[in-house]
Amino acid sequence: MSTTCAVYRRTASGGGMCALLLAGLLLAGCERPPMASTQQGYRGLGMVQVTDPRLPQPANNAVPAPLPHAQIAPGSPLAGDTFKNVQVLKDVPSAEFARLMVAMTTWVAPQQGCTYCHAGSDLASDALYTKVVARRMLQMTRHINSDWGKHVGTTGVTCFSCHRGKNVPEYIWFKDPGPAHPSMTAGNRAGQNAPSPVVRLAALPNDPFTTFLQDPTEIRVVQEVALRQDGSMGPSIKNTEQTYGLMMNITQALGVNCTFCHNSRSFFDWDQSTPQRATAWYGIRLVRDLNMNFLMPLHAVFPPNRLGPTGDSPKLDCATCHQGVHKPLNGVSMVGDYPELRGAAPAPAN
Ligand code: HEC
Ligand code: HEC
Ligand code: HEC
Ligand code: HEC
Repeated sequence: MSTTCAVYRRTASGGGMCALLLAGLLLAGCERPPMASTQQGYRGLGMVQVTDPRLPQPANNAVPAPLPHAQIAPGSPLAGDTFKNVQVLKDVPSAEFARLMVAMTTWVAPQQGCTYCHAGSDLASDALYTKVVARRMLQMTRHINSDWGKHVGTTGVTCFSCHRGKNVPEYIWFKDPGPAHPSMTAGNRAGQNAPSPVVRLAALPNDPFTTFLQDPTEIRVVQEVALRQDGSMGPSIKNTEQTYGLMMNITQALGVNCTFCHNSRSFFDWDQSTPQRATAWYGIRLVRDLNMNFLMPLHAVFPPNRLGPTGDSPKLDCATCHQGVHKPLNGVSMVGDYPELRGAAPAPAN
């Protein structure tokens, strides 16, 4: 369809009146939403994001309406005083605490309800692993919102940013053991040439996550020192391939192309990159922090059916929050309606 229209348009510009009329008639049948394009750099550099509104848009971005706030009278009791086993949300007024429990239920366990985390009627019990994980998730969410402003800005995150009504977020990853290799002597090909959707079916190593989003390996292709005197190695060919694998994955997670962040004549040069590349740089550090300090230490808490093929913890990457768009939930902030997830509440004035 699009080729047909383009052909007639060309005929029209080169031909006479008849062709023009014909083109007008034919073009009338070609109406559809136009392609949207946004310049990311100076014009002429090819730094443009093209969005095709006809393609299916990432689902799941509808934000649930906030629950009505509880009436909090001055001096009303705090959860830390009212309840037996509250360790994180101590400073939250009890009525607001109950509201958050209901919100958490709709965000994480709408089918199962309170008993997904609470063992029967004893709400103070920590018998279920899900409650222990959820408590750590409360700390993680506060940490993201209060310490990672360089990435999440004031938009912030709530449990819904990752969970979206599911017990286990849609996008998580485990260390990938790679396809079985017939001969160890042939070396470890890291899943190369075994096309994986993780790297958009490119013939690249297909676990860019363990190297870069768990271990703080340098994400480098360009050798900055010509002849190293100190015996150290620059980026290896494998690191290069893995870098491209990670970058392919990032474009998919954010629903953008490389020029959202880079000028493709020099992927390396920060001066020619867009501000979004700096935001992404912090995003990489944020993801490593969450994996290393929150998800991996929960290893002993997760039951075996939640662990990966090599027995590791579930971990997150850019897609866990982004889910196909460059601003999660299209930039809508939910945390303003749940200020207790921003960070520890300030001490009440006395
Ligand atoms: C996703 C897990 C999860 C769900 C679902 C959940 N809770 Fe909780 N609940 C927790 C966690 C975690 C704590 C402890 C918070 C802390 O330590 O700061 C807690 C603590 C409580 C407490 C305090 C108990 C005490 O004495 O220590 C009450 C009351 C409570 N929840 C009620 C509810 C109700 C009612 C529901 C359903 C509407 C619910 N919760 C759903 C995770 C959950
Ligand atoms: C940055 C993303 C992110 C945020 C924000 C987040 N979680 Fe999670 N959550 C995860 C990941 C990743 C897992 C591991 C998945 C698994 O259990 O297999 C997880 C697991 C859980 C589990 C265990 C589920 C299961 O069935 O094993 C619970 C319960 C949970 N989160 C509750 C919460 C609550 C409550 C909040 C908000 C206070 C929250 N999460 C915020 C990413 C997130
Ligand atoms: C959302 C932003 C973003 C997108 C999109 C993106 N990159 Fe990157 N890229 C980065 C960041 C940030 C770094 C630096 C990472 C670091 O230093 O930790 C980087 C580093 C690189 C490097 C290493 C340069 C060096 O210093 O040696 C290459 C090569 C690269 N990207 C290529 C690509 C390609 C190819 C694509 C498209 C498939 C792409 N990038 C898409 C953000 C992005
Ligand atoms: C904990 C959730 C979370 C994770 C994980 C996450 N991001 Fe983000 N990211 C956000 C939020 C929220 C924003 C919007 C911030 C704002 O509105 O200012 C954002 C914004 C961005 C932007 C700016 C987009 C724009 O239009 O200006 C880039 C680029 C980005 N993230 C890249 C990444 C990359 C790359 C990763 C993985 C290495 C990543 N993010 C992981 C939550 C996350």
